[in-house]
Amino acid sequence: MNKNSPIKKCLFPAAGYGTRFLPATKATPKEMLPVLTKPLIQYGVEEAIAAGMDTMAIVTGRGKRAIEDHFDISYELENQIKGTSKEHYLTEIRAVITKCTFSYTRQIEMKGLGHAILCGETLIGDQPFAVVLADDLCDAPDNKGVLAQMVELYKKYHCSIVAIEEVPKDETYKYGVIDGNEIEPGIFMVKNMVEKPEPEVAPSNLAIIGRYILTPDIFDIIRETKPGKGGEVQITDALLTQAKKGMVLAFKFSGQRFDCGSIDGFVQATNYFYDKETKKETEKAAKKPTGAK
Ligand code: UTP
Repeated sequence: MNKNSPIKKCLFPAAGYGTRFLPATKATPKEMLPVLTKPLIQYGVEEAIAAGMDTMAIVTGRGKRAIEDHFDISYELENQIKGTSKEHYLTEIRAVITKCTFSYTRQIEMKGLGHAILCGETLIGDQPFAVVLADDLCDAPDNKGVLAQMVELYKKYHCSIVAIEEVPKDETYKYGVIDGNEIEPGIFMVKNMVEKPEPEVAPSNLAIIGRYILTPDIFDIIRETKPGKGGEVQITDALLTQAKKGMVLAFKFSGQRFDCGSIDGFVQATNYFYDKETKKETEKAAKKPTGAK
């Protein structure tokens, strides 16, 4: 691996069953649930593009074909709305499709996030890469997305990085939780990581969210990692090994994250983006000269 090579690939583990959203996720991938008019995974892809990436690698599973169709041209639909007032609805997705390429592989058995990432090895190869869990929807100030912030940090340290945020102590059981030394404001050198600890044994309240930069040696480490919590191969366990062998950083990002894998988080995200869009529309209307249509 050339540690100085720019990060161009982003992996999206999207094979999970999304049971918390049943029955909606019975035949529709969780990653395709829309916040306003855009599916969750498109927000993630746009964040990756904004961070300079152009190759999206998606780990899917049974019942996830809608993701592939979404990132493709629908000629019939294009033809139907061409030249009508509805054409602009497709502007954003067209831009995404022209800016990057998509490749897919399937996780045949859902053996956990670590295993899903390992399934992506054939699409990633021997280079550093980003990972986005699309059900963690992030919004950051000044259009500098969480991944863009992490890429900047990678250029300085050239090691794996996990994004973290402070969570209420009684919610540590939902996350991977880190312990580490703060080497710069908001940047921690990881010395311990525990998957979904009960509050009494959690090493801190710094929880890992669904954004990672990983160096490719992680694949060999995952291969050696035994199933952990819940009988699943945990990326947290593999990252702890990597931290002990070398260095892993945890990064308190600027911005906001919504856990769209849960109903509460999904509703909060919808309200947040609705308010944001409404504000934008109001500002746009206020700028229009009077009398203009
Ligand atoms: P989650 O546990 O949040 O997703 O996994 P889930 O299993 O789909 O959701 P619930 O709990 O049943 O409602 C976090 C991310 O890891 C992916 C999921 O698709 C999600 O993006 N994942 C998880 C895989 O791709 N494969 C797995 O075996 C496990």
